[in-house]
Amino acid sequence: MNRYAILLLLAPLIVAVVHARVTANDFIRLPSEKHDSVAVDDDSVGTRWAVLLAGSNGYWNYRHQADVCHAYQILKKGGIKDENIVVFMYDDIANNEENPRPGVIINSPDGDDVYHGVPKDYTGEDVTVDNFFAVLLGNKSAVKGGSGKVVNSGPNDHIFVYYTDHGGPGVLGMPTNPYMYANDLIEVLKKKHASGTYKSLVFYLEACESGSIFEGLLPEGLNIYATTASGPNENSWGTYCPGDYPSPPAEYDTCLGDLYSVAWMEDCDVHNLRTETIREQYHLVKERTSNGNAYYGSHVMQYGDLQLSKDEVYMYLGTNPANDNFTFVDSSNSLRSSPSKAVNQRDADLLHFWHKYRKAPEGSARKMESGKQFAEAMAHRMHIDSSIKLVGKVLFGLQKSDEVLNALRPAGQPLVDDWDCLKTFVRSFETHCGSLSQYGMKHMRSIGNLCNAGITTQQMLEASSQACPTFPSNSWSSLNNGFSS
Ligand SMILES: *[C@@H]1O[C@H](CO)[C@@H](O)[C@H](O)[C@H]1NC(C)=O
Ligand SMILES: *[C@@H]1O[C@H](CO)[C@@H](O)[C@H](O)[C@H]1NC(C)=O
Repeated sequence: MNRYAILLLLAPLIVAVVHARVTANDFIRLPSEKHDSVAVDDDSVGTRWAVLLAGSNGYWNYRHQADVCHAYQILKKGGIKDENIVVFMYDDIANNEENPRPGVIINSPDGDDVYHGVPKDYTGEDVTVDNFFAVLLGNKSAVKGGSGKVVNSGPNDHIFVYYTDHGGPGVLGMPTNPYMYANDLIEVLKKKHASGTYKSLVFYLEACESGSIFEGLLPEGLNIYATTASGPNENSWGTYCPGDYPSPPAEYDTCLGDLYSVAWMEDCDVHNLRTETIREQYHLVKERTSNGNAYYGSHVMQYGDLQLSKDEVYMYLGTNPANDNFTFVDSSNSLRSSPSKAVNQRDADLLHFWHKYRKAPEGSARKMESGKQFAEAMAHRMHIDSSIKLVGKVLFGLQKSDEVLNALRPAGQPLVDDWDCLKTFVRSFETHCGSLSQYGMKHMRSIGNLCNAGITTQQMLEASSQACPTFPSNSWSSLNNGFSS
């Protein structure tokens, strides 16, 4: 045997030995090596960026800003620097007169304050769709107001986006008008991809019908992985609500969190995120959010480049060194059990007004006020629901109207083909019938179906004016509120 033959025979062995050493260096670390290896990891992943957005305001929506504050604390403990985290929140909760613990926000019944230290990049009227898009695109000159912080990312960077709020088919709420439409968001993501300024992007989205934001719209190949709290046709749920178990401390008349959001965040709170993949987290969150397929639960979905879910959560969120010894083992029992009840996102405001009313002293101004808030919210809902039905009847007649309004497109198809039509029709409706508002977003599918059925703008305007012959003069008038499209 000549020496080349011996080398050939030995080659697999050498490869195996070298491989074992590499593996050992990568995965089996002595505690003393920990710091070195962290530095190496950080170099290899580029910079981590995060954009967090709470899309609502009002004390009855406490939970969305609580979610976003909690997400910030996870990133902060994970080692992400403030300069790389952009926070959008209206910031009317911590110091709200309804808040029983002034200056404090909690995201679970026995949770600590999550408000401290949260950067106030875009607050109040600066929480706009345009600012969110400009921040994502890293376009500082397009930003109006706020801190001016943008995602100034490079080709090796990883971006995490988290949004939580009310939504509806094809639309996400904002505390300002207009709302965020799915097609515009997708365009921005495509533009970000085309600019070559990230390696991969992970998007966690909680809202009613949140699947409809990506279903049939987010293509593969953008290096984007998205998960959503619910499918395209179902609600998402608030949790830790008054009357639930576990319930918030007695002094809170509002939900503290959202079911999908607290599922992923409470998972992050306790694990070494170097040892958990996005996919593992997805499965765990999916199980917890489905709530044993009870009525109070939704189906967590995933879209885009699913192979990115092989990445460790660490790649996007960092990891809290205090959790280093808590490796992820696939067990749901390390988590809180699912709540016995949860509250439909769309009913959480009513629940708040009701609890406020119930607790207020007989004959007090507070009793009057909360009673009025409850009644007005109910009246607005009934007005919007019946107006949409009337528009359908004017256009399609008694028999066919429901069929058109309630039609569901097959899985894999977007809500509408013509998004400009949807926006125009929303304006036509709101001009005559008042703002859809948070609750009314649920009717986006019906309005989209009018577009899909080939109704013209003129027909839509006429039908809206017939359905709403008197212009609504209450606080939900589009004169006061502006348009959601
Ligand atoms: C940034 O925004 C400004 C103002 O909206 C716009 O004119 C410009 O084209 C944008 N830049 C890029 C690189 O998209
Ligand atoms: C993890 O466990 C090791 C060995 O028991 C211990 O020395 C270390 O302090 C622990 N780390 C943390 C963050 O608890």
